Amino acid sequence: MAMGSQTSALIKQNSIVFHRIIMVLLLTCLPKSNTNDFLQSSSYRNSGPSSLANLPFQGLLVHDNLQFAAQDFGGRLSSLPLAVLHPGSVSDISLAVRHVYELGPSSALTVAARGHGHSLQGQAQAPGGLVISMQSLRWPKTSVFFTGKSPFVEVSGGELWIDILHETLKHGLAPKSWTDYLHLTVGGTLSNAGISGQAFRHGPQIDNVYELEVVTGKGEVLTCSEKKNSDLFYGVLGGLGQFGIITKAKISLGPAAKTVKWIRVLYDDFSIFSKDQEHLISLEESSFDYIEGFVLINRSGILNNWRSSFDPKDPVQASRFNSEGKTLYCLELAKYFDPQESESVTIEIDGLLRGLSYISFTLFQSEVPLLEFLDRVHVSELKLRQQGLWEVPHPWLNLLVPKSGIDEFAGEVFGKILTGNSNGPILIYPVNQSRQVSEHRRLQKS
Ligand SMILES: Cc1cc2nc3c(=O)[nH]c(=O)nc-3n(C[C@H](O)[C@H](O)[C@H](O)COP(=O)(O)OP(=O)(O)OC[C@H]3O[C@@H](n4cnc5c(N)ncnc54)[C@H](O)[C@@H]3O)c2cc1C
Ligand SMILES: *[C@@H]1O[C@H](CO)[C@@H](O)[C@H](O)[C@H]1NC(C)=O
Ligand SMILES: *[C@@H]1O[C@H](CO)[C@@H](O)[C@H](O)[C@H]1NC(C)=O
Repeated sequence: MAMGSQTSALIKQNSIVFHRIIMVLLLTCLPKSNTNDFLQSSSYRNSGPSSLANLPFQGLLVHDNLQFAAQDFGGRLSSLPLAVLHPGSVSDISLAVRHVYELGPSSALTVAARGHGHSLQGQAQAPGGLVISMQSLRWPKTSVFFTGKSPFVEVSGGELWIDILHETLKHGLAPKSWTDYLHLTVGGTLSNAGISGQAFRHGPQIDNVYELEVVTGKGEVLTCSEKKNSDLFYGVLGGLGQFGIITKAKISLGPAAKTVKWIRVLYDDFSIFSKDQEHLISLEESSFDYIEGFVLINRSGILNNWRSSFDPKDPVQASRFNSEGKTLYCLELAKYFDPQESESVTIEIDGLLRGLSYISFTLFQSEVPLLEFLDRVHVSELKLRQQGLWEVPHPWLNLLVPKSGIDEFAGEVFGKILTGNSNGPILIYPVNQSRQVSEHRRLQKS
């Protein structure tokens, strides 16, 4: 990942303001050619559906009801493909990609792998082309392997992370690095990065992969890792789906704790908030297992909402807390533990919290099973779906901001550009790039 200096923050935000800016840009740069032009072009007639339809697929090649493949979570771009392949095997994917490759550069037929279609700007769409629906690839079946000290799970590229979690928990294990939301596929997040509050320690998800099986742009099926076909391995990881299609992955696992102490504390000063985040990720051994944060702009009622799932440490004082419309920064922390360690973990957490400078009496705590913690965004999804607020446009933006510029960035954006209470989530993930690199080398050596 290209991160400028020592600490970076990744910010995902969704606001009316940005919505407008992005929409304006899009309207002025939409390409002129569309599916109709394409259908009339000679390349379509020579190389189009008939040639695909003749291939001996084990799975299904579908030409109707393709609307789903023209949609994504971003909800702002939509292009129908010509066909969707539901692969029955890796050979189907290889066959399709090789066919398109052999049509040569004059063919306009494009191919895109589609995971769960939760990308934001049509990345999993293929206008007038072929979409390969990776969730149909049911092979290999998710299996956990214990080899020496490093257990791993072998999964299909179309597997959802939530299903992988369910399977590995049966063995008392879990992947180490996550995204906030788990109803995404392995191929989809490994093509990006996969960042959540564990990344400060384990790196993004792409740092936790032992091996991939990939269908290359020529339709070859290759295995790659740090040692074998490493160019392909590092090209595909974070490669935005442009270097090959991930059909299988071996993902590193660690012991899964049973329970999570889940903590939120509030700040009204961004630089104090970010210093505390940086302090926590710099601790070598004993720190939290998850460190993230989010921004609350003009959300006076929100603390009352939290009370359904979080207990204020000091209910009386907390009820007197009034943000007076100020922009607040919430530091969100989690510590994994097993029930028999509860007492020692509480002492450890108290020690860690004493080193922080949050607004006193704004400590909120909760204790939940690991699964509930990791799958927390799904609860919000269900609520938003009920209100018809899930399937709306999501003009989300991810930024890596270097430590040297984060205070200025926050000063200008939070509370100045973004003022209303109609902003979507604004999340802040602290990561130390230097530490990531040294951890990665250490892992490779061990
Ligand atoms: C509610 C929500 C919360 C999110 N939270 C986080 C977060 O905390 N951290 C984070 O890092 N991301 C987060 N994301 C972003 C998410 O990780 C990406 O959008 C991801 O690409 C979605 O996965 P998908 O399976 O839906 O992929 P798709 O949208 O289907 O595909 C994404 C890209 O990957 C390619 N692709 C898909 N499958 C394969 C494959 N098998 N091989 C090669 N390329 C493939 C596609 O062609 C496309 O370019 C979130 C998204 C949502 C909707
Ligand atoms: C803040 O929220 C209140 C009520 O929720 C609203 O009336 C007010 O307009 C909001 N302020 C801004 C700057 O949008
Ligand atoms: C980042 O990590 C490096 C290497 O471990 C360390 O020297 C440096 O102090 C860290 N920076 C911060 C801001 O914690």
